[in-house]
Amino acid sequence: MINIPKRLAQNPPLCNLGLITNPDAFSADCSDALENGHLDESIMFRNGKPNLEHIPIQFHPAILKAVDAYTETTGRAPEYGAIHISQLDLKPFAVPRVGDIHVDAIISAYPETDYGESLNFIVSDCFPTRLFNQPFDLPENLPDDVHADEIYSFLRQSFEDQINEDAIVTPDAYEMMQYDPYVVHQAQVNDQEVRRTMMLVRLG
Ligand SMILES: [Fe+2]
Repeated sequence: MINIPKRLAQNPPLCNLGLITNPDAFSADCSDALENGHLDESIMFRNGKPNLEHIPIQFHPAILKAVDAYTETTGRAPEYGAIHISQLDLKPFAVPRVGDIHVDAIISAYPETDYGESLNFIVSDCFPTRLFNQPFDLPENLPDDVHADEIYSFLRQSFEDQINEDAIVTPDAYEMMQYDPYVVHQAQVNDQEVRRTMMLVRLG
């Protein structure tokens, strides 16, 4: 059973935090630190400061930018974090990892996760994720006792039917977006062969 609000909206609103400070370094090859192009790690905090020694240094400025934004938005320092990094050589029209329209709070592999006060921060060096700055109604007949995998396919069509093209936010490369786990979003399809570096940090 997963618990999702009947109406998906932005609280606080999604926010463009602007460019990260070190774009060239951000995109540097870090394949040695990744496994099959991916890295998933927890971030521990002590006295409000993150321990980043296990994360490639090229991502530290962006992580600290996210920590500052979280603190400013919520009025308190984060207590925990999780980071996903990917650096992938994508064939044209290969959709990065999660390509379909979705909300993280629903498709998570850990649907029992308490998303309470958490915020997401995402930045990529090309084909940035599109975010939908609009509320979405959930279907009236939404089953409330199914696994996340089933509900995901059920919701996808509903989301696509409700898209307001004027409300789509597509950040520029190296711009960091802040959004809560209930904001609907979608990977862009790359129309050319590209190496794409992406960082997603969740703080709570
Ligand atoms: Fe996502």
